[in-house]
Amino acid sequence: MVASVHSFADHEEPARRLATALDSPWRPISVRRFPDDESLVRVVPQKGMAVVYCPLDHPNGRLVDLLLAASALHDAGALPVVLVAPYLCYMRQDVAFYPGEAVSQRVTARLLSDAFDRIVTVDPHLHRTHDLTTVFSIPVTQLSAATLLGAAIASDNPEGEVVLVGPDEESRPWVEAAARTVACSCLVGRKVRSSDRDVQIEIERADAVKGKIAVLVDDVVSTGSTVRKATRLLLDAGAVRADLYVTHMLSSDEDTAALRASGIVRIVSTDSVPHPTNVVRLASLLAGALVTE
Ligand code: R5P
Repeated sequence: MVASVHSFADHEEPARRLATALDSPWRPISVRRFPDDESLVRVVPQKGMAVVYCPLDHPNGRLVDLLLAASALHDAGALPVVLVAPYLCYMRQDVAFYPGEAVSQRVTARLLSDAFDRIVTVDPHLHRTHDLTTVFSIPVTQLSAATLLGAAIASDNPEGEVVLVGPDEESRPWVEAAARTVACSCLVGRKVRSSDRDVQIEIERADAVKGKIAVLVDDVVSTGSTVRKATRLLLDAGAVRADLYVTHMLSSDEDTAALRASGIVRIVSTDSVPHPTNVVRLASLLAGALVTE
């Protein structure tokens, strides 16, 4: 049983939704910044299982406060201290591509494994590592929002006539799972990325979207370059409209506006990371994992 759900002030809303789904109280984690930018982190002392809710987008400024909060909860007698990080940072850099590069995934996994007793996350963006239990030394639960996204697509398009599109091979698991929920067909593209904002995409049989709504599905949208390129291709292939459903929406306001300007009509994201496009709530999915395991 979860004794309490703790979060920093900027995640109070989704953390409270998780607390409500668990029938547990929400407790604030307060942070006082010293003039030299060090933090004094204070938790509400708790015994029993304490959940810390903390999406890890823009992680550099947040990680230290999070580690301090976990330590304070342990010191106060909480056990286990479970991190619910719907978005987990630094999962892409899983090898050193060039000599001298840090393997950020391994470093992050070590830090979090030392601080917490268990981690629950959603759709971690993995490339060569498929199972996070191989890099974390604590139990990790990997959930997926693909079925929830599929349900949202189905409910937003009651007339059918949609084709789901994954812009690249990495998106295949999400787009196929969402397509099973919608009971529609899907396409998966191929992508070559030459820089953060420069991608080339090919989608075989793209003419399958002719006269239909093309719904792009992905785990993460960051600069939006991938989705913008795919949207152009799909509209050129005759799609009547292009929409986007995504688990983790990391785009800045400017990049989100550019997505809309490229022709995306509806953008729906989960609340894994706070964003104006959040529609699909993850609280029940997360709560289910915390009470059943
Ligand atoms: C790639 O492997 C992912 O599935 C996303 O397509 C990618 O991270 C999106 O990045 P961006 O929005 O910057 O193109």
